[in-house]
Amino acid sequence: MESPISGFSKLTKTEKINWILDQYFTDQKEAKELITNYWNTDKKLQKLHDEFIENTITNFYLPLGVAPNFLINDRMYTIPMAIEESSVVAAASKSAKFWLERGGFKTTVVSTEKIGQVHFVFQGETQELKDYFNWVKPRLISDSASITKNMEARGGGILDIELRDKTVELENYYQLHATFETLDAMGANFINSCLEQFATTFKDEVANYNGEKSSLEGMDVVMSILSNYVPNCIVKAEVSCPVNELQSKDIKDPQLFAKNFKRAVDIAKSETFRAVTHNKGIMNGIDAVVIATGNDFRAIEAGVHAYASKDGSYSSLTHCSIDGNTFKFWIEIPLALGTVGGLTKLHPLVKFCMHMLKDPSAKDLMQIVAVAGLAQNFAALKSLTTTGIQQGHMKMHLLNILNQFEATEDEKRTLVDYFKSNVVSHSEVVTQLNILRNA
Ligand code: MEV
Repeated sequence: MESPISGFSKLTKTEKINWILDQYFTDQKEAKELITNYWNTDKKLQKLHDEFIENTITNFYLPLGVAPNFLINDRMYTIPMAIEESSVVAAASKSAKFWLERGGFKTTVVSTEKIGQVHFVFQGETQELKDYFNWVKPRLISDSASITKNMEARGGGILDIELRDKTVELENYYQLHATFETLDAMGANFINSCLEQFATTFKDEVANYNGEKSSLEGMDVVMSILSNYVPNCIVKAEVSCPVNELQSKDIKDPQLFAKNFKRAVDIAKSETFRAVTHNKGIMNGIDAVVIATGNDFRAIEAGVHAYASKDGSYSSLTHCSIDGNTFKFWIEIPLALGTVGGLTKLHPLVKFCMHMLKDPSAKDLMQIVAVAGLAQNFAALKSLTTTGIQQGHMKMHLLNILNQFEATEDEKRTLVDYFKSNVVSHSEVVTQLNILRNA
């Protein structure tokens, strides 16, 4: 067993790598070469990446792909996607093209409110706490003025602070539940700084309060933190067309297609096992754009899945209707995204992706990301309800299998050609590769 190490973060990058090589690798030369091969030759760029996190030893690549031909509210976009899953970008591109020919995607931002909470414990009479809160509320806001000044100048800031009695859920538990408008920033730092100031003021001002305060002095702040659940930061994206216009190369019977497609959405609405996979497919599109634009995909994931359960059971994030001859498919999701702050102006590829997206505002980006999710879900359900998912998926996965067996460029060309008209499976690829190699 390896020995524990103290002061690891203080070591230089080389010392850290050497320690790892000593602890875990017998072929140290090969392991070191791998690590250093992933370094950027541009030292300044490498240092920038090293400093994003602690204990960086190298870079971990994800492919950055693009899906062109997205028509969103009559503007054309090429959407950047950072993702490792073979078929995602191809599926997005196919959906974009399909809807480009049918009027494109229509989107609206419904709301942009963010939330943060100071969680605290209070053992006295609730009315005493309410009286104190009403007295201290203006001070909570005025004491945060130095934090909120710039945001307010741009039109954002604190929207409201409420006292919430949560004692039914947990004994003696209360919250300061605050809402914010953070404009083009995702707002985590802004919100958390405000909340920590609220907590300090809330505790400290008890000393200056003239009301009943003996129990207020025992009030205990547990923590102050934003919520990644943002049910009032909502964007909608939709596509629609007459049912007969769904006809295409893969859709011979549009009436039947529309009916089965809607059934697939309805199944995901009513059944958790399917809903989770259905929403996972949506997140294939969403996460890929969120990562490419330097946003926090874990926050987005957590918030989106909580929203999928908002009515009491986990359900589909997309919806479908067939009204007369009109097929409509739409998504409604919470997306707290930023186009300033965080990595957005720091990571060179994020800057590149933002530029490609016409330097969007946070509201623009919410709409683009929602479209990526809807497009992905459309592509998945279209395949699932017609050809099945494996045909397209395995076609895209073919190169991964060939690379796994170190196929040469010639072998790849021959086999990609062969599998244009043959069903791809792992074993069939191996068989064909062997045939080729033994010929
Ligand atoms: C695979 O990454 C995503 C799908 O499973 C989504 C779905 O089933 O809807 C194809």
